[in-house]
Amino acid sequence: MKFFADTGDVAEIRELAEMGLVDGVTTNPSLIAKAGRPLKDVIKEICAITTGPVSAEVAALDFASMMKEAEVLRKIAKNVAVKVPLTVDGLKACKALSSDGTMVNVTLCFSPNQALLAAKAGAHFVSPFIGRLDDIHIDGMDLVAEIRQIYDNYDYATNILVASIRTPNHIKQAALIGADYATAPPAVLKSLIKHPLTDKGIEMFLADWKKTGQSI
Ligand code: G3P
Repeated sequence: MKFFADTGDVAEIRELAEMGLVDGVTTNPSLIAKAGRPLKDVIKEICAITTGPVSAEVAALDFASMMKEAEVLRKIAKNVAVKVPLTVDGLKACKALSSDGTMVNVTLCFSPNQALLAAKAGAHFVSPFIGRLDDIHIDGMDLVAEIRQIYDNYDYATNILVASIRTPNHIKQAALIGADYATAPPAVLKSLIKHPLTDKGIEMFLADWKKTGQSI
């Protein structure tokens, strides 16, 4: 499974990259607002850290304006994936951009049928938003499992990029289902490392090592 960092915070991406945890990055307008910096600067800096796909989202809602924004975004770096919403115009933009060789991430997917449409429009990624379904008491993982089955039934090449991940368990479940990618906030990615028995084991080894009086 590949991991994307879901953030516009360049320092955090750099730290995760040093741990080998960054196969790419996803951003959205909310994350860029949180970063408090110009979109183009943020995306350019991220693309210098990772050669993996870096999703940058259009803000326009109509096809023509989406295409204009996509043109600006994809010129920033060759690993930019243009993110479009799962709407009629978003699918039109997806079809046009994908046919032109641009990586497209179709975002805000909340149903298997929406994911089917994204695949038919040639999306490189579809982003089912798991946490936001859980928020309304619908199991987001059921959606991931259903998309996996549909894509496998028809050999769609579109990658399932599980998004709106909130917990380590979301990542485990997505991996068990066979999702291709998970995008998560840096704090969630870092929390995958933690286990109380690892900490306790280190403590015990260090205590015993001290007793030997040795140094390496
Ligand atoms: O990857 C999508 C993500 O940024 C949305 O997450 O937690 O706002 O639902 P969240």
